[in-house]
Amino acid sequence: MYVCLCRGITDQDIKDAVENGASSYRELREQLDLGTCCGRCAPEARAVLNDALSETAARLGYAA
Ligand code: FES
Repeated sequence: MYVCLCRGITDQDIKDAVENGASSYRELREQLDLGTCCGRCAPEARAVLNDALSETAARLGYAA
């Protein structure tokens, strides 16, 4: 699913960025150039980022 139409970034791209160490919206922007055009993707990108971080934490045994 496309999250950022301006840059052609998908939810899988965001999940891959988290796997590669991104842990904040700022780091996502730096890695993917996400949200740097119209910015309308920011809320959805943050939601996908938070889900990916939660999944990673759970997989690593850090979930509450
Ligand atoms: Fe992401 Fe426009 S949809 S910057």
